[in-house]
Amino acid sequence: MPHTNLHATLHTKPHTTLLSATHVKKTYRLGRVDVPVLTDASLEIGQGEWVAILGSSGSGKSTLLHLLGGLDRADKDSGPIHFGGEDLRSFSAGRENRYRNRDVGFVFQFYHLLPELTVLENAMLPALVGLSRMKWLSGRSELRQRATDLLESCGLSHRLKHRPAELSGGERQRVAIARALINGPKILLADEPTGNLDIRTGGGILDLLAATHAQGMTLVMVTHDEAVAARAQRRVRITDGRVE
Ligand SMILES: Nc1ncnc2c1ncn2[C@@H]1O[C@H](COP(=O)(O)OP(=O)(O)O)[C@@H](O)[C@H]1O
Ligand SMILES: [Mg+2]
Repeated sequence: MPHTNLHATLHTKPHTTLLSATHVKKTYRLGRVDVPVLTDASLEIGQGEWVAILGSSGSGKSTLLHLLGGLDRADKDSGPIHFGGEDLRSFSAGRENRYRNRDVGFVFQFYHLLPELTVLENAMLPALVGLSRMKWLSGRSELRQRATDLLESCGLSHRLKHRPAELSGGERQRVAIARALINGPKILLADEPTGNLDIRTGGGILDLLAATHAQGMTLVMVTHDEAVAARAQRRVRITDGRVE
């Protein structure tokens, strides 16, 4: 193989696959009507990649992200979603919970913070899920430190005791990112993470995601905005239920 071709091959396939969807189908049922959203969606995410999923409103971007994150299930006759070597459909209930809580970090457009908890408590929350009372008591101060450090790296050290209502949109999304990272996920799934923010604030969030990516995080980011998608390493588009 000529050198240039080898080079191109390395550039198009630089990673081992971490997460993949193969001929995935998802149909919603509205009353008695079937609404096919994903008809044949295939996508491979390499370890360490930052991939943007583009598509118009209603094209199925969130649907695909939810399937990838194990938040929803594909149709019975769908192809598989694999994480590492594992088929998500083979997961036990416990493994599924661990996948959603440990392997994957989620960031949503509207933050989904708990209003009655402080910034620090919100960031700690996923790490408290499923812990025994003993571990909860013994590990709390270590966890508190980890969450404090993460929030600091997200630019929030001055906001630890505040509640979400006292924060700007950009600050709320920073809390959500710290929360998504608290369990050391292998992949971050972000659904329109800047969709509710002005361009400048959104740019700061993209900088934070870029910094996370630079430290080795695999990122899948859904957006309808070409300028936002331009920050990713690779862009794919959902059209007519397929990924192009
Ligand atoms: N839970 C649901 N029940 C029925 N239809 C849904 C549901 N969630 C999404 N849809 C429909 O599926 C299509 C794709 O939705 P979605 O994945 O949210 O698109 P996007 O994120 O690209 O805007 C839309 O037509 C939407 O109305
Ligand atoms: Mg959406």
